[in-house]
Formats: sequence, structure tokens, C-alpha cells
Amino acid sequence: MNKKFHQQSLSERLKSLELQANLSPEDLLAYQYEGGLDAETANAMVENVVGLYSLPLGIAQNFVINDREVLIPMVIEEPSVIAGVSFMAKLARAGGGFKAGITSQQMIGQLQVLDLSDLQAAADQVLAQAGQLLQELEEFQPNLVRRGGGPIDIETHIFNETAAGAMLIVHLIVDVKDAMGANLVNSMLEYLAPKIEALTGGRVHLRILSNLADRRLAWARSHFPCQRLAFDDYTGEQVRDGIIEAWAFADADPYRAATHNKGVMNGVDAVVLATGNDWRAIEAGAHAYAARSGQYRSLTTWSVAENGDLLGSIELPMAVGVVGGATRVHPTARANLKLLGVETAAELGSIIASVGLAQNLAALRALATEGIQKGHMNLHARQVALAAGATPEQVEAIAAQLVAEDKIQLSRAQELVAQWNGNNND
Ligand code: MEV
Repeated sequence: MNKKFHQQSLSERLKSLELQANLSPEDLLAYQYEGGLDAETANAMVENVVGLYSLPLGIAQNFVINDREVLIPMVIEEPSVIAGVSFMAKLARAGGGFKAGITSQQMIGQLQVLDLSDLQAAADQVLAQAGQLLQELEEFQPNLVRRGGGPIDIETHIFNETAAGAMLIVHLIVDVKDAMGANLVNSMLEYLAPKIEALTGGRVHLRILSNLADRRLAWARSHFPCQRLAFDDYTGEQVRDGIIEAWAFADADPYRAATHNKGVMNGVDAVVLATGNDWRAIEAGAHAYAARSGQYRSLTTWSVAENGDLLGSIELPMAVGVVGGATRVHPTARANLKLLGVETAAELGSIIASVGLAQNLAALRALATEGIQKGHMNLHARQVALAAGATPEQVEAIAAQLVAEDKIQLSRAQELVAQWNGNNND
């Protein structure tokens, strides 16, 4: 019988990827020590480079998103996350998989206009000229327009009382297509700034993209068949209802919501990072969006479907790109995009939202039943066994014994390794 992906050795997994995904030998090399990012490329990416810093890259299994099977690369140092999403994706698959999408590719850029005596008159001036300004911006970015994107709209917002007095904020809305969009939007804002000064008589201070990308939301939802949630002594109904109770806690209490959303971001960030995208931008957008009502809340919702299934959904800002930046420069990010089979930022955003939802469910299912320490302890025991010198063949058995003895300690692991080696030498 074929071994499952998680039961395979590192080299067997690479072989499986080669067979399952359309990856070239160069792509596969990007996953190995001798491949991936090299120091010279790194030196061209940021300043004062002295070396590279590695993190584990694993492949989440079982995902069906918009009726397509997807292998999902995840870069993360925390154990249990990749196993957790893979298991939840298996449950989702039984309910038809994830449905996911994005609302638009529109990003918001902001200009801060100061030293105005009549803010409303300045805002009216800007809005009266918006059509002309948008046309000039289109001429400034012909390539983006050719790709089907470009400037969409100009809005104004007045803040009468701030620590620096009254200010007019001009929003430039740009369809950035498959780019993350920061460079595009920031250069358009810098182009626009002197024109806004001339129109209003004010002084433009900041010219910068907003990370609260609330026009560029990614969403995902899935049905999880109730009976599939059952395990050990827990019935499907108990697990389902426990998950909804856990979610209600996060929806009501910001202290819990912060941790709940941290779990969502365990999944989201790992894919954002694997594809060379800016995970700080995604983090900032997610948390600002979670607080949009004035109270910080859950990014997900959980309820009971008419047929008794567990129904989950997520919505969060998703400023990711598949062109430009590290997505194309970093060889492993390039290979990961190929593995995902995505051509557009919309497809990538849909996948990331699905992984965030799956990871939230993995955490809630554990928290609402046996607690999260059991799963963590199994993985922790493996790390202790490795640290004690266990070979790859010995790790599972020694870790299992450490857990069974409830003694996950380095000294005990070293005794077990010594015993094992002694027995095998007899
Ligand atoms: C740990 O990295 C994430 C969790 O704390 C998330 C949660 O509490 O929902 C388990």
C-alpha cells in the first residue's frame, strides 16, 4: 500500500511532489539545501546581508478549493499547524471542499493634506477634478492599464480635530491586478501629490498605501459534515456545538479574539511567507479589519447549517501578489507558486483564506475537546527524541514511549536512545 505523505521520508516526499505536481528538477532543487535563495540574491534584496535564515517548509494535504485539488506550501516554525490544516481539509473535502474568492483587487492609497483654511472647499475642488486626475494617472501607469487595472476612484475624508489640527485625507483607489500593489500605489500617490497641492492650496504631507485593504477582501467558506467531526468519545454534535461555543467567546471578547485570530494567522502567514509575500501587511490588514466595528472580533464565523453540518466562513483583507517583489526573485517562492498552480492574485488569496479557516477549525476543535497540549506534546516528544540523538527510524517509537510515560525529558530520551542502540548492538 502507498505510504501517506506524512509517513514518507524527506526524499520520498520530494519524489511524490515530482509525480503529483508539474515541477521541474530546478523547482525541486529550490526545496533542498543546495537550492533556494542564495546569498548573492539575498544581498540584492535587503541591506547589510551576512547570510540566510531557514525555516521549515511543509506541504498541506487534502485541500479542494473551488473544485480543484491544491497542494499548499506552508513555511512555519510551529508544530501541529500543517497537520492541523491537512486534517481539517480532509473533513471539508467530505462536505464538498472550500468555496473561496475575493471581492476585488482594489487597494487604497492615502494623501494627507494640511494647512487648509476651508477643508470642505478643498475636498470639493479635488472631487470636481477627480475625472481629470484619474485620466492623468492612467497615462502615468499605462502598463497597469494595459493589464486591465488602473486608478478607479478618488475620495475625500475630513478630520476636523486631530493632534495636528484639521486635515483632509484624499483616498486614491487603484485596481492593482496581480501585484501586491504597494509600489504601484505609492508611486501614483507621489505623482498625484503636487497636483493636489496646486488644486487645494494645501500642503501634502504623507503619501502612502493603506494596509487596511478592505476593498480587497478574500473570503472562504465550507461545510464540515457533522458525523465526520466525531472522534474518541465525542459525538459529532458535541464537537460541532463546542466549536460554535468557542467561536462565540471570541466574537464577544477581544482578549479571546486576539488568540483566536492568531490561530487563523498561523495558517494565513505560513502561505503568505511561502509565496514571498509581505506577511506584515497581511497581519496589519487582518487585525485592523477585525476591529472595524469598533470592537476587535473574530475573523471567522461558525454556525449550524440546515442539514446539521458545521458551517464556517472567513473574510479578511488580502493584499498578496503573484508578480513583482520576492514572489519572483526567491526561487522557492517561485516553485511554491507553481506548486499551488495559481496564475492570479485572486486565486492565491482564495487559497490563503481557505487555509486560515481550516487552521481556525483545527485550533477550535482541539480547544473545544481534548485541549491543544495533547497534540503539541506528541510533537514536542519527537523534538526531544531528536535532540537526544534518536535516528529518523527511532524517533516515532521513542517519542511514543516518552508520551506514554508522561516523561518528555531529554535525560529520559537519552536513556531510551542508549537502550535502543544497546539492544540493536546485541
Ligand atoms: C496557537 O499558535 C494558536 C491557538 O492559540 C489558537 C486559538 O487559541 O484559537 C491554539
